[in-house]
Amino acid sequence: MSSPAETLRTALAALLDGLPPRQAAQAVDRLIANYRGRTPTDAPILRDRADVAAYAAYRMPATFEAVRSALEAFAAAVPGWTPASHVDVGGGTGAATWAVTAAWDGERPVTVLDWAEPALALGRELAAANPALAGARWQRSRIGAALRIESTDLVTVSYVLGELTDQDRAHVVDAAAAAAPSVVVVEPGTPDGYARVIAARDRLIAAGFRVAAPCPHSAACPIVPGEDWCHFSARVSRSSLHRQVKAGSLPYEDEKFSYVAATRLPADEVSPAASRVVRRPQIRKGQVLLDLCEAEEQLRRHTVTKRHGDLYKAARDADWGDSWPPVEPGNYHEIRQ
Ligand SMILES: C[S@@+](CC[C@H](N)C(=O)[O-])C[C@H]1O[C@@H](n2cnc3c(N)ncnc32)[C@H](O)[C@@H]1O
Repeated sequence: MSSPAETLRTALAALLDGLPPRQAAQAVDRLIANYRGRTPTDAPILRDRADVAAYAAYRMPATFEAVRSALEAFAAAVPGWTPASHVDVGGGTGAATWAVTAAWDGERPVTVLDWAEPALALGRELAAANPALAGARWQRSRIGAALRIESTDLVTVSYVLGELTDQDRAHVVDAAAAAAPSVVVVEPGTPDGYARVIAARDRLIAAGFRVAAPCPHSAACPIVPGEDWCHFSARVSRSSLHRQVKAGSLPYEDEKFSYVAATRLPADEVSPAASRVVRRPQIRKGQVLLDLCEAEEQLRRHTVTKRHGDLYKAARDADWGDSWPPVEPGNYHEIRQ
């Protein structure tokens, strides 16, 4: 059986069948121009099927991979937990619903809320290819003061906050916190996206949630705003549409994203990473430099050298976004002396 990622790729490729490549590329150009400088908006940007097909073909593989990566880090922190139901707010064509099916096996009730009917219609069409989304409900709903989210196990809000006013960002996070014991917010990995994630993180903590990922703790983020921003990277295979729109020969691109996964599950069910690799590790001759965000609420660079044996091998395999260390914390302690 194909993975959700492969099934999604095939379904998206089929979407463009019959659409002249130039027309698809023009739709993407129009969409990028529309998004630039026009947010927050008071009416949906995704107005018709051409807009939505362009969005889905061009952006959905990337938002899917970013959300999947965030959910996998969350799943690692709550190993005994599987969402029994899911609501995706501002879900558009449903990238996060596909990501949930990639992160956790099985079927569950799924509801996608969005104000753009064409996005919901296309999401429903694509979801027909994914058995775990067969029963998903696609509902028109506007994020605002009146937003109420039905009670569920997991709420995702992916690549949405940037399209909202400050008040509506607060409303959607509060509504998510009231509806579910677990909330995952994903934004582009830019300084602004990170700032929106931190604001959502603060709101969730104030509502009684603890952070499960990426942070090793639920205290204040040690990053100084304006100096740096916490973000990660997910590799995305480029479709033929990508190759047309973006010059360049690479068969992949790296989607940068920021996220927070927070939960009200009991403390003994949540094991945040001891520390997290917050930059791409630098491999030097005989050593690996790891930039870590640590449980002690600080950022620190660790140098792991050959003399650390297995830990050195693990460090060579470590990736940006991974939790660290992969071994007993006791052993790890030794190398910090
Ligand atoms: C960039 S898309 C992200 C879609 C999807 N979550 C993803 O990750 O691919 C933003 C989505 O938010 C929806 N949206 C923006 N403002 C909204 C509002 N006020 N109420 C409901 N949906 C909204 C848009 O229609 C669009 O589908």
